[in-house]
Amino acid sequence: MKQDLIRKKNISDLLERKKNTRLPQTLSAFDLIMLGIGAIVGTGIFILPGTVAATHSGPAISISFIIAAFVCCLAGMCYAEFSSKIPVTGSAYIYTYITFGELVAWLVGWALVLEYGLAVASVATGWSAYFNGLLQGFNISIPQALSGPFNPEAGTFINLPAMIIILVLAFFLTRGVRESTNLNKIMVFIKVGIILLFILIGFFYVEPANWRPFMPFGFEGILSGAAIVFFAFLGFDAVSSAAEEVKKPQRNLPIGIIGSLFVCALLYVAVSFVLTGIVPYSDLNVSNPVSYVMQLVNQGWISGIISIGAIVGMTTVILVMIYAGTRLLFALSRDGLLPKSLMNLNASQTPAKSTWTFAIIVAIFAGVTPLSQLAELVNMGTLIAFSAVSIGVIALRQNKQIPTDGFQVPLYPVLPIITFLACFFLITQLSITTWIASFIWFLIGLFMYFFYGRKNSILK
Ligand code: ALA
Repeated sequence: MKQDLIRKKNISDLLERKKNTRLPQTLSAFDLIMLGIGAIVGTGIFILPGTVAATHSGPAISISFIIAAFVCCLAGMCYAEFSSKIPVTGSAYIYTYITFGELVAWLVGWALVLEYGLAVASVATGWSAYFNGLLQGFNISIPQALSGPFNPEAGTFINLPAMIIILVLAFFLTRGVRESTNLNKIMVFIKVGIILLFILIGFFYVEPANWRPFMPFGFEGILSGAAIVFFAFLGFDAVSSAAEEVKKPQRNLPIGIIGSLFVCALLYVAVSFVLTGIVPYSDLNVSNPVSYVMQLVNQGWISGIISIGAIVGMTTVILVMIYAGTRLLFALSRDGLLPKSLMNLNASQTPAKSTWTFAIIVAIFAGVTPLSQLAELVNMGTLIAFSAVSIGVIALRQNKQIPTDGFQVPLYPVLPIITFLACFFLITQLSITTWIASFIWFLIGLFMYFFYGRKNSILK
């Protein structure tokens, strides 16, 4: 292999650059947990549990959530080790740059662009569906042609609400990170409050008989359910994208990553128990299960509040995912693998050009594409990054330049290896269409690297 394909970043240079960073350091551990919950709790809890319980896991969907949380927690610890030792923007991309060299790093960065981009687009599509529903509750309707992806047979041409929400949130992000995290915090309080309200009220309507049979589709159903609800935990890696803007990163980043996963796992398991306890799992095959069961028990007003919670929840997921996507473009362009102009900062010290580039491309995508079947691609992009990061911990420990303080994955090297195998197992659960689409995506990535990145990389 040619030397430049495996050229690696020098850790002391990175740490030096961190000292001279131009991004202001304002985020605390609490801000990070909020950022994490903001990125995590969205479609995965407001839309997925119904269909997955009805068709894959039954009442045992809570176990699917626990398995997915376990895999994410394992990967989260590997992320925490990297991010506490090398607190620079770029997440898994930078971690692989240090451990495996430029080509693998570019491919992981490219996989993450896929993850963040499609996650934003698909969550925006879900947002738009709930938003249309809410407007209809007030007897307002958006013209059919502007309410869905390009599908002339159904009379829809463009999903305008999905596009608008992406562009509005991108605008907020260009106003500055501090302002955006404050907005995020308010929205996180609203969505967590609404989920807790659901759990508390729903608890009184639980009929334990609905939990029987607990595993109607067997253990296999629980596992395939876990591969899907995995989506519900995505976003925690966005916390490590904020590394350069964090105070005391060695301490705060691991708390932020693991803390937000823990809170979300508790909420998801509690919601699943309540959902499947109120109605038989087979009745849950609906796109808005959480508000649906409240309607069934004649709590119409709570159902309305939950729809608002879902909209707020998805808004924060979109916000944080755009944030992570743009910071990734920033890091890729700073390294010369994408055009340099993407790293220009505006007067509010945010990379406005990469924010708008990312947001406009993703908004067009969200406007015209029916994304439901592409959601698995998001899981693929993420699992590839998780695999690289977990195995990368082993390479990281061998590197003598790395500072010895900070968070370390326990039970080394068993835990990083188990993480890698668990991610690989979930990748094998994804459909063949997803494999083909990912293959095409990576071919495009390779093409871009060999015609642009390799020549323009700042590493010589
Ligand atoms: N975890 C995010 C969600 O569930 C992607 O919407």
